[in-house]
Amino acid sequence: MKITVLTLFPEFFDSFTNTSIIKRAIDNKHVDFSSVNFRDYTLDKHNNVDDTVCGGGAGMLLTCQPIVDAIKANRQKDTKVIMMTPQGAPLNQQKVHELAQSDDVIVLCGHYEGFDERIRSYVDEEISIGDYVLTGGETAAVVLCDAMIRLHDGVITTTSHEDDSYENGLLEYPQYTRPIEFEGQKVPDILLSGHHENIRKWRLKESIRKTYLRRPDLLDKKELNKEESKLLSE
Ligand code: ADE
Repeated sequence: MKITVLTLFPEFFDSFTNTSIIKRAIDNKHVDFSSVNFRDYTLDKHNNVDDTVCGGGAGMLLTCQPIVDAIKANRQKDTKVIMMTPQGAPLNQQKVHELAQSDDVIVLCGHYEGFDERIRSYVDEEISIGDYVLTGGETAAVVLCDAMIRLHDGVITTTSHEDDSYENGLLEYPQYTRPIEFEGQKVPDILLSGHHENIRKWRLKESIRKTYLRRPDLLDKKELNKEESKLLSE
């Protein structure tokens, strides 16, 4: 997968791309990541990329020319152009799966008060990471890129994300490692029983319980199968 981030702060992505799993994914060529400064594309003689708002109002807006030229210079025929903005569609695991299907994405990060509205006609998807406003799209872009990259084959062991929270519309069940007892808290006996089918059922039940208690909205959206419906009613 190729990811090109268009940003005023390419260095923001240095620690993201130089750490842990993402670094390994890049080193192993699962992902080709670059961050490009769209200021490099401005034709303004003072190197500006923003201007005052037509009709008046506080703050500055990112202008069309540098961003649209940066998009045009970095996109191929099948590139998906994604804009990070609090006005976008909410990011969830299903959306991450959808976006991670693309082999080539441009992720556009805004700053200042926002984008000239006409830039949106060069964008395929607008994505928000939540109902709050960040100082810039970079933090949101890191969230999106991380979530997409980890889904790629070989980036993490394939079985480890199947049980992740949200993958099956439920929160993840509780997990434990050694010691078997820590300051009076014990690992549930069933997990030490070696009985795989009982462990599977316990985990599913705990997943449903946790989701019911913490995120009942997820259960409203999920189509429960027979076993899940039975466990929910217990
Ligand atoms: N830029 C500023 N706030 C944002 C948000 N919540 N999601 C995506 N991009 C943003």
